[in-house]
Amino acid sequence: MGEKNVLELRDVRKSFGKLCAVDGVSLTIGSGELVAFMGQNGAGKSTTMRAIAGLSRIDSGEIRISGRDVHDDPVGARACLGYVPQELMVYRFLSGEEYLTLVARIRGVSEDKVTECVEKMLTLCDLTTARRRMIRDYSGGMARKIAMAGALIGRPELIVLDESFVGLDPESTFKLSRYLKQYAADRGAVLISSHILDMLHELCTRFVILHHGKIVSDISRTALDDLLTQDSEIHDITGYYLKQTGQSDLIGDLNRNNIKSEGV
Ligand SMILES: Nc1ncnc2c1ncn2[C@@H]1O[C@H](COP(=O)(O)OP(=O)(O)OP(=O)(O)O)[C@@H](O)[C@H]1O
Ligand SMILES: [Mg+2]
Repeated sequence: MGEKNVLELRDVRKSFGKLCAVDGVSLTIGSGELVAFMGQNGAGKSTTMRAIAGLSRIDSGEIRISGRDVHDDPVGARACLGYVPQELMVYRFLSGEEYLTLVARIRGVSEDKVTECVEKMLTLCDLTTARRRMIRDYSGGMARKIAMAGALIGRPELIVLDESFVGLDPESTFKLSRYLKQYAADRGAVLISSHILDMLHELCTRFVILHHGKIVSDISRTALDDLLTQDSEIHDITGYYLKQTGQSDLIGDLNRNNIKSEGV
């Protein structure tokens, strides 16, 4: 657990008509934690993350970022948050450099530091040569990286990334993962949803699994790794995930495939 509560969800519920997408989720994330948010398609991850960003109103419960309620104090809460939605929202008619400069100013980065901050992010995302091109002309991966850079700029206390690693090349995945690890080491907090389980296992310090809108597992990296060495049935994070989401029948096939591919 981290030192200071950066994100607090208390009994959060959200339905769409008769469909209960988020069903009583309580979760506290502290500074220094890098938390994986896992679960099947439709489990409720994006709905939860959108609610954290204040983009959709929850039916009941409470969400606080650095102590600020996202509904009572939306501006204060948003000031502490960097969020990349699954469906990207960036200004398509700005260049990458203009977009990052705008976000840095909105975040309150002091004027003498803006250029340095923008430069650092463009380098991190390998977008220095594309800096003057309009975002609408970026490739899918480039657009996702500029959105991530926008979320990271100004070092907000909490970063929420919804499937942000989809379509990134291996070197960008490596560099951004390394950045996030350092960010957490410097007492930031990160919540990241992804279906790339091996990447999450390498990156994160804690693993939360959502299933039909409810948290069915919340385990630290150390506890997970201990379990993987002790449990004769599951050998990796995918096996753990399948077991927790009621798909144990697939674990045998998974293990057989792993043995086969290791033998090739
Ligand atoms: N605006 C909406 N109107 C109606 N139903 C919605 C809406 N947004 C989400 N849902 C439903 O809520 C459930 C949870 O969706 P959500 O997008 O949170 O899942 P997810 O865990 O992010 O899935 P994925 O891994 O596919 O991104 C789904 O059944 C989805 O169809
Ligand atoms: Mg989603």
